[in-house]
Amino acid sequence: MKFFIDTANLDQIRDAQDLGVLDGVTTNPSLMAKEGISGQENVLNHYKAICDIVDGDVSAEVISTDYEGMIKEGMALAELNPKIVVKIPMIKDGVKALKYFSDQGVKTNCTLVFSAGQALLAAKAGATYVSPFIGRLDDISTDGLDLIEKIRVIYDNYEYETEILAASVRHPMHIIECAEIGADVMTGPLSAITALLKHPLTDIGLEKFLADHAKSNS
Ligand code: E4P
Repeated sequence: MKFFIDTANLDQIRDAQDLGVLDGVTTNPSLMAKEGISGQENVLNHYKAICDIVDGDVSAEVISTDYEGMIKEGMALAELNPKIVVKIPMIKDGVKALKYFSDQGVKTNCTLVFSAGQALLAAKAGATYVSPFIGRLDDISTDGLDLIEKIRVIYDNYEYETEILAASVRHPMHIIECAEIGADVMTGPLSAITALLKHPLTDIGLEKFLADHAKSNS
């Protein structure tokens, strides 16, 4: 499973990249705003800075909600760097834009996906990635992971090449369960990724090893 980090914070992206397990980055307008990035030029420069840090795909979301606007904005984003994946919302004009970009060979990430039907449409339109938001589904007392399972079955039935990018991941168990189901990618905060390495028995075991080593070398 590929690991993407879901942030526009350059320090966190560098930390995840340094860990050696990072495959890409996802951003969204809220995450860009959180970093205080505003204005067309600053936004584009920030995406370029992210691309300079990571080796893999970097999702950059369009703000337009009409077909022509999404095409214009998406093409400008895609021209920034070959790593850029144009992130398109799951709306009617978005589906049309996904098809356009797919025909042009531009990578896309269909975002704000909350149902299997939406995921099916995204795959038919040729999206590179589909982003079901599992955490936000859990937030409203539904089962986000159940949606990942359903999409996995549908995509396998018809051998769709669209990759399932489990988004809105909130904690390490989301990552583990997505891996069990067979999500192609997960995107989450740095805290969820680094939480995977923690186990109390590892800490206790290491303390004992080091103490025994110190005793026999004193
Ligand atoms: C995905 O691409 C989104 O940026 C993100 O995962 C949304 O996560 P949130 O529900 O924690 O805001």
